[in-house]
Amino acid sequence: MNIATQTVQIGLDWDTRTGAVTVPIYQTATFRHPGLGQSTGYDYSRSGNPTRQALEEGVARLDGACRGFPYSSGMAAIANLLLLFKSGDHLIVTKDLYGGTCRLFDKIFSQYGLSFTYVDTSNSAAITAAILPETKAVFIETLTNPLLKFADLRTISSICTDNHLLLIADNTFLTPYLLRPLDLGADIAVYSATKYLAGHNDTVAGVVTVKDPQLAEKIYFHQNSVGAVLGPQDAWLTIRGIKTLGIRLDRQQQNAGRIAQWLTTHPRITKVHYPGLADHPNHRLMQKESRGFGAMIAFEVDKCELVEQILLKTNLISFAESLGGVESLITFPEVQTHADIPPELRARLGINNVLLRLSVGIEECDDLIDDLQQALEG
Ligand SMILES: Cc1ncc(COP(=O)(O)O)c(C=O)c1O
Repeated sequence: MNIATQTVQIGLDWDTRTGAVTVPIYQTATFRHPGLGQSTGYDYSRSGNPTRQALEEGVARLDGACRGFPYSSGMAAIANLLLLFKSGDHLIVTKDLYGGTCRLFDKIFSQYGLSFTYVDTSNSAAITAAILPETKAVFIETLTNPLLKFADLRTISSICTDNHLLLIADNTFLTPYLLRPLDLGADIAVYSATKYLAGHNDTVAGVVTVKDPQLAEKIYFHQNSVGAVLGPQDAWLTIRGIKTLGIRLDRQQQNAGRIAQWLTTHPRITKVHYPGLADHPNHRLMQKESRGFGAMIAFEVDKCELVEQILLKTNLISFAESLGGVESLITFPEVQTHADIPPELRARLGINNVLLRLSVGIEECDDLIDDLQQALEG
């Protein structure tokens, strides 16, 4: 079945008793036992809740996984995955990574004895060179935040297989609609479902999908023990969002392609990072491996004063953090999403004081271009 059809069908056959077309919201903390030592299959909502389970099964199907796990946020999902490792373990991580993930690794988990080496994971030799006897995993973003570099998952996965390393792929920017990391060799995919999956800037959520049943059992044990589960209302909103994932992303990508092209022609824009542009270094690879280029654009302006002007003067495009929703948002990574990355590293990565990140929504494209045009003119 085509993935666009699968997204629409999520949760549809859940309530066989009433035939409800949408999944009921089981707003309950606990469940009555039918008898001593008996269970309906649900005992307590941290351990399992029918609304959350509909999402678990739906995302597992979308990603070709054996199981899926919804969390209270993308960060909670990533933190839960780090419980797979123990003091002394080492992970190789994409250099160009969401700032909150860097903060979690360097400021929290490093205190518990985990160590992290940041490498350019688009260079497979750099990954191999960073492997230590204590390395246990490689953590990548399939399309990086904010500079939109695309990872060669097949190559990284073969390095991981040869060296018995887990491959964890944060697929937030692409979603299963455009790319299924487990099909390309990742062991675990992780999502900030706050973004494209839920898609309406109205809920914070995270998702993990896993290929191997034994690994999934461990992750379930950690999730239930720590308790960072998604509540039933938010699980329902995420299911509702996923139903329109395909149609939203089709439109968002179409808009992003046009806007990226338009930005390249503007005299005050010095650089456009969008993998759909033919001169993007990963354009060919992404064309081969992904069903699309996504709807995130990063661009640089010719003077830092212009950054504030654009952020304040865009009317239709909101100056706000987050991404992937139906409304277009613009942000300034150096000061916002990536402020927790050390300044020297930020500078080396190219996250500078003239770089803006645009999350393209589903509005009429001409209106978005007009909004950018008037903000650039001041
Ligand atoms: C690529 C990526 N991963 C993870 C996260 C964290 O997700 P959340 O904000 O849902 O905790 C974000 C948030 O922006 C992100 O962009």
